[in-house]
Amino acid sequence: MADALISVLLERLASTTYEYIEGGVKLVLNVKEDVEKFTGTLRVIQAVLEDAEQRQVTEQAVKIWLDELKDVSYQMVDVLDEWNTDILKQQVEKQEREQNALVPPNKKVRFFNFSRFFSFGKDSREILRRDIALKIKDLNDKLTEIYKERKKYQFLRKELGIQQPQQPQRPQTASYVNMSEIFGREKEQNILIRKLLGDSSEEEKGLLLIPIVGMGGMGKTTLTQLAYNDDQVKSHFEIRKWVCVSDPFDEIKIAKAISGDYAPSSNELDEVLQYMFRSIQGKRFLLVLDDVWTDDREKWEKLKVPLMQSGAEGSRIVVTTRKLEVANMMRATRNMINLGGLSDEYCLSIFNHMAFSDRDVQEFGDISKEIVKKCKGLPLAAKTLGSLMHNKTKIGEWKEVLRSKIWDLERIEQEVFQPLFLSYYDLSPAIKCCLLYCATFPKYYEFKRDDLIKLWMAQDYVISKGNKEKGTTGDVVFDNLVARSFFQDFEKDPNTSTITGCKMHDIVHDFVQFLTKNECLIMDHVGGATRELKVLGDKVRHLTLRYVPQGPLAISSYNCKKLRTLTTFDSTITTIDPNFILQLKCLRTLNLSDNSIKELPEEIGELIHMRHIDLSFNFDLEKLPDTICGLYNLSTLRLRFCSRLKKLPENMGNLINLKHLYVEYCRDLWSLPRRIGRLTSLQTLDVCRCGGNSDEAFQIGDLRKLNLEGSLEIQLVGDATDKSEVEKAQLWDKKLFHLRVVFEWQMNSSSSVEILNALRLHPDLESLDIWGYNGATWPNWMQSLHNLRFLFVGWGSQYELWPIGKLEYLEILNLYGMNGVRKVGVEFLGLEDQTSFRIRSPPLTLFPKLKQLHFYDLPNWEEWEGVEEWTKGDSEITIMPCLSELTIIDCPVLKALPNFLFRTPLQTLDMLGSRKLSERYQEGNGEWAKISATIPNIRIKRR
Ligand SMILES: *[C@@H]1O[C@H](CO)[C@@H](O)[C@H](O)[C@H]1NC(C)=O
Ligand SMILES: *[C@@H]1O[C@H](CO)[C@@H](O)[C@H](O)[C@H]1NC(C)=O
Ligand SMILES: *[C@@H]1O[C@H](CO)[C@@H](O)[C@H](O)[C@H]1NC(C)=O
Ligand SMILES: *[C@@H]1O[C@H](CO)[C@@H](O)[C@H](O)[C@H]1NC(C)=O
Ligand SMILES: *[C@@H]1O[C@H](CO)[C@@H](O)[C@H](O)[C@H]1NC(C)=O
Repeated sequence: MADALISVLLERLASTTYEYIEGGVKLVLNVKEDVEKFTGTLRVIQAVLEDAEQRQVTEQAVKIWLDELKDVSYQMVDVLDEWNTDILKQQVEKQEREQNALVPPNKKVRFFNFSRFFSFGKDSREILRRDIALKIKDLNDKLTEIYKERKKYQFLRKELGIQQPQQPQRPQTASYVNMSEIFGREKEQNILIRKLLGDSSEEEKGLLLIPIVGMGGMGKTTLTQLAYNDDQVKSHFEIRKWVCVSDPFDEIKIAKAISGDYAPSSNELDEVLQYMFRSIQGKRFLLVLDDVWTDDREKWEKLKVPLMQSGAEGSRIVVTTRKLEVANMMRATRNMINLGGLSDEYCLSIFNHMAFSDRDVQEFGDISKEIVKKCKGLPLAAKTLGSLMHNKTKIGEWKEVLRSKIWDLERIEQEVFQPLFLSYYDLSPAIKCCLLYCATFPKYYEFKRDDLIKLWMAQDYVISKGNKEKGTTGDVVFDNLVARSFFQDFEKDPNTSTITGCKMHDIVHDFVQFLTKNECLIMDHVGGATRELKVLGDKVRHLTLRYVPQGPLAISSYNCKKLRTLTTFDSTITTIDPNFILQLKCLRTLNLSDNSIKELPEEIGELIHMRHIDLSFNFDLEKLPDTICGLYNLSTLRLRFCSRLKKLPENMGNLINLKHLYVEYCRDLWSLPRRIGRLTSLQTLDVCRCGGNSDEAFQIGDLRKLNLEGSLEIQLVGDATDKSEVEKAQLWDKKLFHLRVVFEWQMNSSSSVEILNALRLHPDLESLDIWGYNGATWPNWMQSLHNLRFLFVGWGSQYELWPIGKLEYLEILNLYGMNGVRKVGVEFLGLEDQTSFRIRSPPLTLFPKLKQLHFYDLPNWEEWEGVEEWTKGDSEITIMPCLSELTIIDCPVLKALPNFLFRTPLQTLDMLGSRKLSERYQEGNGEWAKISATIPNIRIKRR
């Protein structure tokens, strides 16, 4: 919305640089002056925005005024970006000249005319700048008009200077409601579970359809989830399936979701239905169709008939919906459960839980009750409002919420949204922008934290981590939205338990769509392949297309000129029409992943504002146009699973803002262009193939200048890789979390050792995978990895296992496919020999943090040596005091487990396809008693 956009723009204006390296001084001065004037006017307008924002919900004229203001602001953002892009371009040219001066004449690279937007030469640059200066002048005039017009509306001014723009902070503790504890739906839950399990009446023996009807935010899905995950229910049904249906009702997608792994790739309804039929045939199933909207009986019958015929007696279908018509259409009102509002007491307990996680509930007792009354029995509203109040500690703040104008809105739609409005207005501008951007995704989309943050950055709503003083970072925004209950259904990283993914409640989604009604549009292209997409409104800035059929993407609407985001879902486009692309001049994010694109038009190089391109999962894409290298603002390029992509454009070294490049599973991409090594901004390069034979191929030494973070996979191909090249990479300077090294090229043992030794990793590395290494000794830097927590080593031919036991923080160790290993001796634990522990002082702990130990496919491994003389009484050493899981798979000749294992707290022991172990420890055998006495979960299975 406008206030958010304008704060972000003001921030941007404050940090604009005008500085060219050379030339055009006078013009620069003019521009600077004009921008300052613009900024001044905008600041005055900003003071009335809060009032305007609230009034536009009911006053159409105010809305139009705000829309114009927004339009001018967006244009200003773009003009400044053009200016800035031209400065970037000058930097690239300079860099290019300097590089070229170093190269012998016969090897000079040609410098591409990437974009028609930029012509070459001094004169054309003058023209461009003059053009930008004129645009800024013009925008200044327009803004002045808007400024004058504001008088008409007599907005209330916010006192400037008193209230600082609120800086968002990282929430202290996000509190979550355990809905099963204070849900207040015990009655309904019991009824539902009885209906699911019951077979009291004749009718209930067959397939039963149970609609759960209630308005959004009432807790239909939560109720269903509780029943779905009930232990009795779980064991009662052979198959349970949960399908998010939403709108439109897509029979094929639903049938495929029901079939699960059995789903065919075909999109023929008949075939898909047949597979579905077979996947559940004769089984007692529970199917949940969550959030159904359609009351089209024909569509429903197509799906229902095979379901009725295939399932066993006692099968159940639960349908959640906001519309009573759906239950009527399904002729299932007899078993309907109608969810009404919760009582105020229950709402209050949800509210209190969110608001006072660690404070005294009595504090604002009376006001709480007043506020909760306004939730009208909606648990979602109670939850959202509770989180809103969590941080308000003054009685004045509480009263202010109670007095807020939003409560006076009357339209039904908005009544549900009222509590959300309150939470929304409480957010800082940048966070508002970020929340609203979520409206570009379909319902039930699973947001990934890091991806979402990149998308926010592409729109300049937030800035990157390294830049903290200049604005709000994406992580802060994400955590705030979590704390305010705008997100839910969290997915957590098991290692660090930070939230990595989430969904949005469908009412919250409706709410953000309501707020962005004209700006964000999700458009479905259902029906015939030739039908044109309908004409867009002229305010649309973020467009999401679904179900676009095979063929080129083209929309014949001049209104695409303002698009800043274009995304497709469930589509199969093959290319984009060049004329269409040329309209998308403001585009910043283009997500065409998961289509059937073969080629992209060169014209994409004209989209100079572009920040984020996602072409992942386009299995037919063979190359990218060179013009992409002229997108100097591009910061993310995702190409995962473009398995036919053979080559990246050589000039990618010109993408000086590129921060994230993803090329995992690009099978045919044999090398990366060497000049990627110049991209000092690059932080993410998921997979890096090093050592191709040509001069233009990226070598491992080219990693040196990159400031990589996070995770990196180095694939060593070709024999061009030698020790000195590896040393050039200076990996000891790179603070990665995870590194995977893959030897794709058969090397003899001594060169493998040399190469691995030359890697010398940074001591902060926490996770390391090594594949295909066949050196006989372990890398000499291993002991220096003091923080290593996860180590995976596989598919080499080592003869000895490395002395890993001294790695203090190691939690998980996986060893795969080592043919050479016959014996695992005490050296593995980190002891020199059987007796060395005796003279040890101070006391020693081996594998002090190890939780999981896995061996896979060690076909010649016969002996695992323990420490014979060690008993627990000799307290000088302790071995694996944290071990909880041990897996031994496909180690057929290993004879016995070492004794020390039985003194660890081992919880789970898996022995699969390990013949000799199975014989020795099988149930009924004497040795079984030994292992089963201390280990609760044991699985032994032969292949
Ligand atoms: C690049 O642009 C200049 C000026 O417009 C033109 O003279 C030149 O031929 C172009 N080069 C290429 C390779 O298109
Ligand atoms: C709540 O307020 C406290 C201090 O007043 C602050 O530290 C914290 O970050 C705030 N949390 C949110 C979600 O704003
Ligand atoms: C929620 O509460 C129920 C009932 O008290 C309990 O069984 C369940 O473990 C709790 N869940 C979580 C995540 O705390
Ligand atoms: C791009 O679109 C696909 C759907 O086609 C979606 O799954 C993916 O998450 C989107 N990527 C980003 C970065 O938004
Ligand atoms: C957590 O650790 C496991 C084990 O090493 C690893 O496979 C996984 O990728 C890690 N997860 C994340 C999100 O880093």
